[in-house]
Amino acid sequence: MLKIENLSLSFGNKQIFKNLNIDIKKDEITAIVGPSGIGKSSLFLCINQMIRYEKSYTLSGKILYDGIDLIKENENSLTKYRKEIVYVSQQPDILPMSIYENLAFIGRIHKLKELDKKIIEALKKVFLYEEIRDRLDLEASSLSGGQQQRLILARALLLNPKVLLLDEPTASLNEELALKIEDMLKEEKRTIVIISHFRNQIDNLTNKIYKL
Ligand SMILES: Nc1ncnc2c1ncn2[C@@H]1O[C@H](COP(=O)(O)OP(=O)(O)OP(=O)(O)O)[C@@H](O)[C@H]1O
Ligand SMILES: [Mg+2]
Repeated sequence: MLKIENLSLSFGNKQIFKNLNIDIKKDEITAIVGPSGIGKSSLFLCINQMIRYEKSYTLSGKILYDGIDLIKENENSLTKYRKEIVYVSQQPDILPMSIYENLAFIGRIHKLKELDKKIIEALKKVFLYEEIRDRLDLEASSLSGGQQQRLILARALLLNPKVLLLDEPTASLNEELALKIEDMLKEEKRTIVIISHFRNQIDNLTNKIYKL
């Protein structure tokens, strides 16, 4: 589904990674591990090509998505791919608007039908709905760190992505909640790439592990 071939990335004259080869199979969970600062999050930026907005980077190799090299695609077609390959960043990037609007705005951009129903489904999937159903109109910034993290995961699931890129998705959650999210991800039967520093989490999710 996604094949990374000989990918090398530098910022300025600092090489981040070199000749990376990763094979991501459809409907499987693939884990990326490695020490802090090694380039895991940067790899995700390469995959969804948000790296284009960074200053002074050099990228070579291929990122093949269903055979199409995303590095060579123009900005117009990338808009389409970014709906299919959805990145959930390490820091919850909530927007300065209500909890409901944080989900609804992206649903409207992508012209989702039955939006309210889908929003509720997504919030239920991340075990957030019961907690916040009475305050969907409040600012999303009023949520706790763990709630914000689940909100952005719900936002990604709302798009029903073909590939979900998760960067430390349970870092702000307690163990019990993290386990529930892991079970949900396994049940999704979706192509997922996850960065995690929790060894037991990785073992619970997959045996496909790439070490940077
Ligand atoms: N835009 C940028 N310009 C220059 N250097 C950058 C840029 N973005 C990241 N880096 C550097 O690239 C290296 C890899 O960063 P990255 O965030 O990918 O690491 P990581 O493996 O995700 O680490 P962590 O586990 O701490 O999240 C770091 O040394 C970082 O300082
Ligand atoms: Mg990171």
